[in-house]
Amino acid sequence: MKHLFLTIASAFLSLAAFANHPDSVYVRPDVQNGTRSFQIAYSIDKVHWTHVNCTLFDSDYGTWGSEKKLFHPVLSYDGKTYRSVFIPNLKNGQIAITESEDFALWTPQDYPYISSDSEFQQIVETQERVSKTNVIRIPYEGLQNLFNKQLRADQNNAFERDDFLGATDVLKKNAKSINATIKVNMNDVKDISPDLMGIFFEDISYAADGGLYAELIQNRDFEYTADDHRGWDAKTAWKLEGNGTTWSIETSAPIHKNNPHYSVLKTTTPGAKLINEGWDGITLQKGKKYNLSLFTKGAGALRVSLVSDGKSLASTTLKATKEWKQQKFTITSSASADKASLVIEPLEASNIDLDFISLFPQETFKGHPNGLRKDLAEVIADLKPRFVRFPGGCATHGQGIDNIYHWQATVGDLWERQPDMNIWSYHQTRGLGFFEYFQFCEDIGAEPLPVLAAGVPCQNSWKGGAGQQGGIPFEKDLNGKPSPYSYMGKPLTMESYLQELLDLIEWANGDPKTSALAQIRAKAGHPKPFNLKYLGIGNEDLIGETFLKRYRFIIEGIQKAHPEITIVGTVGPFWEGSDYEYGWREAKEKHIPIVDEHYYNSINWYFHHRDFYDDYDRQGTKVYLGEWASKGNNVINALMEAAYLANVERNADVVVMSSYAPLLAKEGHTSWNPDLIYFNNKEVKPTVNYFVQRAFGQNAGDKYVHSDLQASFTSTNGKLTFQSDNLRNYIDKSVVIDSQTGDLIIKLVSILPIETDINIDLGEETLKGYSTTAHLTVMAGDDNPKNERDWRINENQTLTVGNTFSVKVPAYSFSVIRINKNKK
Ligand code: AHR
Repeated sequence: MKHLFLTIASAFLSLAAFANHPDSVYVRPDVQNGTRSFQIAYSIDKVHWTHVNCTLFDSDYGTWGSEKKLFHPVLSYDGKTYRSVFIPNLKNGQIAITESEDFALWTPQDYPYISSDSEFQQIVETQERVSKTNVIRIPYEGLQNLFNKQLRADQNNAFERDDFLGATDVLKKNAKSINATIKVNMNDVKDISPDLMGIFFEDISYAADGGLYAELIQNRDFEYTADDHRGWDAKTAWKLEGNGTTWSIETSAPIHKNNPHYSVLKTTTPGAKLINEGWDGITLQKGKKYNLSLFTKGAGALRVSLVSDGKSLASTTLKATKEWKQQKFTITSSASADKASLVIEPLEASNIDLDFISLFPQETFKGHPNGLRKDLAEVIADLKPRFVRFPGGCATHGQGIDNIYHWQATVGDLWERQPDMNIWSYHQTRGLGFFEYFQFCEDIGAEPLPVLAAGVPCQNSWKGGAGQQGGIPFEKDLNGKPSPYSYMGKPLTMESYLQELLDLIEWANGDPKTSALAQIRAKAGHPKPFNLKYLGIGNEDLIGETFLKRYRFIIEGIQKAHPEITIVGTVGPFWEGSDYEYGWREAKEKHIPIVDEHYYNSINWYFHHRDFYDDYDRQGTKVYLGEWASKGNNVINALMEAAYLANVERNADVVVMSSYAPLLAKEGHTSWNPDLIYFNNKEVKPTVNYFVQRAFGQNAGDKYVHSDLQASFTSTNGKLTFQSDNLRNYIDKSVVIDSQTGDLIIKLVSILPIETDINIDLGEETLKGYSTTAHLTVMAGDDNPKNERDWRINENQTLTVGNTFSVKVPAYSFSVIRINKNKK
């Protein structure tokens, strides 16, 4: 665990302090050009050099793989600050700069542009020359700090290798019984966040378009492009079959400038069909109603049908209108089908323009038009999330500045919204836009948590130059020149971007009587305010100068205009490292109320870091654990997540929100694994991890009750002993009170290989006014939690409880005991 590591580290430090070493050493770069890691060699006499097998820092420039490189690195030290300058690549005209106070932790890198090619060339030449002979003298302490960093990395690697289930195998072979006692101290209670459990929604792996968003027609507006996905264009997902009709894509007279492409069918003799394949086919249910709509312009008649295996299951006919007009129909499917298609047939010689061809099941979640897929939304709602974070993830800061998410482009009439490429290599219709997100939050009783870019795109962007280092420009940096960036025809600067964020608050919370923005919301069907309380700024960004300048500008602007809004900041993509450290420094210095931590780690990491939040400062900035998951969907993953969550709940006075990520993934279109819920057109497939999240969501509390655990075991041969301390690593517990109901909730996670008897001592008189029959939910694995994908779930057990009572928890299980307060 973290503390164990710290003890080892300080032991090393004190040993080193007595060792016979000089006060200072020589250091020089010892690295191949074009690699990612900056390594060094050191020398005592400047003659004999020792390579240091640790990384000073990695190049963090640009996109993964091809760009994160360094050339000609040079080190310097002015007696206070270490500094390194390197060339990230020889083509973009940028240099990279990073600094350190201790030679171990380096600042997030900055990549300033050099104004002219010749100056850049000169810098490259100087760097190349200097790096070859670059030797500096540094205090020995710097080297020691670097060794300590490596020690920490080694310790983590050891954790990663540690087969913690190995110990349980020994237990399994030798244990006759295992017993534990949990002593609950009802006098030791602290307030915890009632909003700990929420969800992270991002349009990744077809989560929105083709997923939760119930639209059944793919590329309904002919706006797909090769930017969305290599090889795609305005005709993707459509095909023309038969003769007598020509089909072209035009842009000269669109319905709206934000949707420039539309289809033109010119028919001489009827017989051809324009066919849409839907999202892996259109799934229909017998007897169900579907809302069909399309814009037409021109002259002539059409038939629109839903066809499966050559059979028409529903159809309607229509006449094109002279000007663009949306025509709407309700059609009923005469049979169920897995892979139907939508077929448009000209019925006469005609000339017809078509756009925005849409098909929705009438039955959406809560019956909203332009709504959400009911089965998926219901499974999400069952998680009882207290908040929904949207629209990403990386989808929010985007692939280059042009792809930064603009909420205003996602509200209003569908054909006025601006579709865009999706960083996950497909297309965002923005049909599921901010109005729909807010509405969904309201429907499921969750707070909306929009997270928007901090004026910089994804630091790993491959588009738009060198990643986020080209942040949105400030007007003053443009020297009167127009911004090279725009969205929906408006020039984009940091000033306009801040205004856009302020407008979001006004749109969500304003009064339609006095606010034009609030009128847009009211027109969409929600005159009452949405009561937006949180706004996330940034998504796991590189905390360099480009970012900080924009982040501060945005946060100051929002706090000044809307002090009632709680800002959620960002601290990088990992649980450690320079973005994490410098993100936290910024948060503390600027009193940012909450920051968003992200980590996707192994089960071993979680096993060894259940105390991760124990030493977090309780004052000031709180944590939103916004993206986390262990790497897998097996029972052992869910079990470790339950164990970790029990400890996060114990620390929910500092971790005020959390969300597993990602939430959804469509089979066959998954760009990230693991996910919480998989689905296809017909089925929703919650994972074992889902049931853990759901149990925590449905059994959340707002008061944490301290408890102590002791465990013992008897071996079959009476010889083998297993320390209570060691056994304790395999059992986690959390006791909370839900003040709204008064219920007392006990969660028990057992990573032990055999059934365990747990004695629970609530202390005298605790259960006065409580039911003596508790509700017990148990999810258990079988013999091999590393390979199983399903829980055995029993949600409807009862348990007789008193001030002391016992419960048998199965091997590899997660149990929730809910003791109801008697209603008055
Ligand atoms: O959850 C998937 C991705 O992981 C998110 O988009 C991003 O924020 C993180 O790197």
